[in-house]
Amino acid sequence: MPHAKKSSNSLLSIDDLSNKDIQHILDLAQQIEKKPHKFADYAKGKILSLLFFEPSTRTYFSFASAIQRLGGSVIGFPNAETTSIAKGESLEDTARMMSSYSDIMAVRSGVMGSMQRMSQAIHIPLINAGEGQGEHPTQALTDLYTIRQSCKKLNVTIAFYGDLKFGRTNHSLIKAIARFGAKIICIAPPELQMPKDYVALARKAGAEVILDKDIKKYVKDIDVLYVSRLQKERLPARLNYAVLKKAMNVDLKLVTALKSSAIVMHPLPRVDEIAVSVDTDKRAKYFQQAANAVPVRMAILLLKMGYAFPI
Ligand code: NCD
Repeated sequence: MPHAKKSSNSLLSIDDLSNKDIQHILDLAQQIEKKPHKFADYAKGKILSLLFFEPSTRTYFSFASAIQRLGGSVIGFPNAETTSIAKGESLEDTARMMSSYSDIMAVRSGVMGSMQRMSQAIHIPLINAGEGQGEHPTQALTDLYTIRQSCKKLNVTIAFYGDLKFGRTNHSLIKAIARFGAKIICIAPPELQMPKDYVALARKAGAEVILDKDIKKYVKDIDVLYVSRLQKERLPARLNYAVLKKAMNVDLKLVTALKSSAIVMHPLPRVDEIAVSVDTDKRAKYFQQAANAVPVRMAILLLKMGYAFPI
């Protein structure tokens, strides 16, 4: 079988997109959200394959919903145990097969490097739908869309609060939002603080980045409180889940101390790091954020399949 080159339209990291590309995705998603019927047939006859080697609810189903709302269809698996991977087939061979059955592919994997390996084995665009403790670029685009929708700007003061070391959504978002002039505050216990590489990249992009373990003194400055789950499945045995978990909870008292214009985000799933009593506060935007995944992923799919939209 010929070895096709990595498709230039793949999205493996948020670094694959310029600021202009990001703005274009957000603008197109906004148009789609306003007039979804206009886009209902765009991907007619196109097939998206979803290869998910790790659990997912939102990402898997919002991608499936997105292609179907564009008139296309979906094949794939939410669990590799039902595939020949269970018989020992390689990631590359699995990607090759699925690429000949589809026009675009989205992959979730716990293994670092698998996006690169798989994209090199195929000739259709591959979208990283979450890779180990690395990146999750389409979540970052959904997050940026939600921030722009609520705050009307991207040069916000954002506090990342939670498992910043192993939580991949934080990694793609810090790199992206730093490029749009945000002020960044990373709040986590030292063991779960934002990895140095991401901090360095954000600073290189011109952002002010503060690292701290206590949120209290920043409460009145925060425009966006970006909470994330402790990544239990990636936590090394030497770190105590129960102890770390106690250190990072968001309750209604904390949320009502924020500015009234502030927003609270979470990529979800929430375990219990945000109290349910916060859900009805007007600052809670996490369910809106999850809903935004559909128009944003519709825009990503269209642009990555090569449709052009002069906006
Ligand atoms: C996140 C992920 O998979 O990284 N979920 C998502 O895609 N919205 C966050 C998480 O699992 O904690």
